[in-house]
Amino acid sequence: MAANFIPVSLLVYCRPGFEPEAAAELIELTSMQGLTGQVKAVANEGFVQWLPADRNAFQRHASRLRFDELMFARQLLLAGDWIETGEQDRVTPVLNALAGHAGPFAELWLESPDTNDGKALSSFFKRFQPKLEDALRQRGKLPETAGANRPRLHLFWVDKQHCIPSISLAGNRSEWPMGIPRLKMPHDAPSRSTLKLAEALTVLMSDTELRERMRAGQRAVDLGAAPGGWTWQLVNRGLRVTAIDNGPLKGSLVDDPLVQHLRVDGFKFRPKKPVDWLVCDMVEKPSRIAQLIAGWLADGDARQAIFNLKLPMKKRFDEIHKCIGLIDNIMQRAGMPYLLRIRQLYHDREEVTCLLARR
Ligand SMILES: C[S@@+](CC[C@H](N)C(=O)[O-])C[C@H]1O[C@@H](n2cnc3c(N)ncnc32)[C@H](O)[C@@H]1O
Repeated sequence: MAANFIPVSLLVYCRPGFEPEAAAELIELTSMQGLTGQVKAVANEGFVQWLPADRNAFQRHASRLRFDELMFARQLLLAGDWIETGEQDRVTPVLNALAGHAGPFAELWLESPDTNDGKALSSFFKRFQPKLEDALRQRGKLPETAGANRPRLHLFWVDKQHCIPSISLAGNRSEWPMGIPRLKMPHDAPSRSTLKLAEALTVLMSDTELRERMRAGQRAVDLGAAPGGWTWQLVNRGLRVTAIDNGPLKGSLVDDPLVQHLRVDGFKFRPKKPVDWLVCDMVEKPSRIAQLIAGWLADGDARQAIFNLKLPMKKRFDEIHKCIGLIDNIMQRAGMPYLLRIRQLYHDREEVTCLLARR
């Protein structure tokens, strides 16, 4: 890894407004590897940098830092020093900055913060990408065909004159540009939040895990189901769903034979027979949801669950840790080994989405 790129910092992308959470977990992740450093972030800019106190120690341990242990990072990158370019020639300063890094890189991605200013750079990227790719190819830094296992080169532009060069490592990164999964809204799904569960299913599990864990014919319960976006995702995969909500379901779900709609309280309902999946999108205090979901698994009423923790409060990072503690207590008491993955999805706003499953 570091053989062809010498990183001097970490760079993560995040949802604008969540820089404090992304910074807090970077400090936590690096300190677990015995690394100290400081974070640099500007509110609402959608990215955070972590600068090591000891560059040599960082370069030795950098590849041990795991993207999938981060909740608020959309992408994890090993970054070089900032590049400043002129207005006319941007290729030469980038090539100069990359001269000390051997390559070849798998491919080149030009990226920007997920802000209005960042999005405005897309036409510049369209013009600049082929020019820079040609120049990199001539210098042997980009192969003719992308080699999936090589580090990918990312240039993160904050404006047209400043970018951070960085790499991501195969198997330890998001495979989506800017870390944002592009999912198509299904035309007959009853709500946009259908995309949240669609994203959770792709991001919280590998393709193999998803195939093993979710199959047609399984049974699921959806707590807080109306108008039915999450139920729609499950039915679309052939699951039978008990949809719990006082509100109405919409569209084709109303008379879908795979759906049973019950107008009862999601905190009181339990199934007569255990189900394969529990999903929950009720708007409630996170600690109450965490205990409810862990209780279902600990009691054997569901094998696995996907649920949201709504985080409207200031101390969002602390609140998640409190929920992790509550879940751990319940699962430990039940003597049940489990896996818990937590992520702020692109389609999440003031919330995170979790996968809790029996091992
Ligand atoms: C954010 S919406 C769910 C959207 C849904 N996941 C979708 O994709 O269409 C939250 C739902 O939770 C329901 N809800 C809140 N508290 C509930 C409770 N105690 N029992 C059942 N449903 C509840 C609300 O009626 C509301 O429809």
